[in-house]
Amino acid sequence: RWVAVLSGGLSHERDVSLRSGRRLSAALRSAGLTVTEQDADHDLLHRLRNERPDAVLVALHGGEGENGAVQSILELLDIPYVGTDPRACRRAWDKPTAKAELARAGLNTPEWTVLPQSTFRELGAQPVLDALVDKMGLPLMLKPVQGGSALGARVVRDRAELPSAMMGTFAYGDTVLAEKLIEGTEIAIGVVEESDGPHALPPVRIEPTNGIFDYTARYTAGLTSYQAPAELSAAATAEASELAVSAHRLLGLRDVSRTDAIVDAAGRVHFLEVNVSPGLTETSLLPMAIEAAGRSVGEVFSKLVEHTVG
Ligand code: DAL
Ligand code: MG
Repeated sequence: RWVAVLSGGLSHERDVSLRSGRRLSAALRSAGLTVTEQDADHDLLHRLRNERPDAVLVALHGGEGENGAVQSILELLDIPYVGTDPRACRRAWDKPTAKAELARAGLNTPEWTVLPQSTFRELGAQPVLDALVDKMGLPLMLKPVQGGSALGARVVRDRAELPSAMMGTFAYGDTVLAEKLIEGTEIAIGVVEESDGPHALPPVRIEPTNGIFDYTARYTAGLTSYQAPAELSAAATAEASELAVSAHRLLGLRDVSRTDAIVDAAGRVHFLEVNVSPGLTETSLLPMAIEAAGRSVGEVFSKLVEHTVG
């Protein structure tokens, strides 16, 4: 088999994606596949069209690789690819869309509201922020509705910090998701499809040394400690696994995903978001979960390639 791994691209997560692509390519080579690494640039379409790999793996983050755009192109070219189809990518990529679908199905997710920047221009920042705090209280978590690697994400504990935090988040997109902050333990749960359907990998527990799992804490070795598998109660582990598999199924995801969640003090698990192109860098969560399950990145992804090519 020969496969193309797409990485790079032009999003804020370009560097992360190049690291994911390198690790995935090496893992697939060690599983016996022939691999070319392809940057998602102006030449990509032309190359894929001429070279026609048996399958494509999308290791792009933070834009076209997660919002379904690249998957749409692969469908136009009739090239098989590992992962989720364009429509489901879009549902998962837009955080409030995913939260709304899962809340409708009865899953726990922190209370939220969506604030487009135009609201601030039209109605004035202060009354909008006052209404937000009156309704939702503090602390709040602010995130761009679309994005990854915590870029633009802010925790706001104090009303005075809200205007500048909001501006910081708007720097990464024109619509903000404001969520009630749930205090607890951050976990991530990988899901991989086997012949009998999607299965959860062991949850990974995240403990950033300085308390915040931001971009630096994610990609600097030693700044965060990880526990894989996470030592959670049996009930919380079961709830987390069920949540991740439900999110994967309800959003119509394919092959692989990673759900990020919080376990609160009472042991309840709350859905934060799901990733259709989880990071595969040396400090990323999905590879830790795969290894905690006694498997390897090469084995898992080469099986997904076989399943895709048929
Ligand atoms: N957005 C990064 C790559 C992740 O979710 O792992
Ligand atoms: Mg994400």
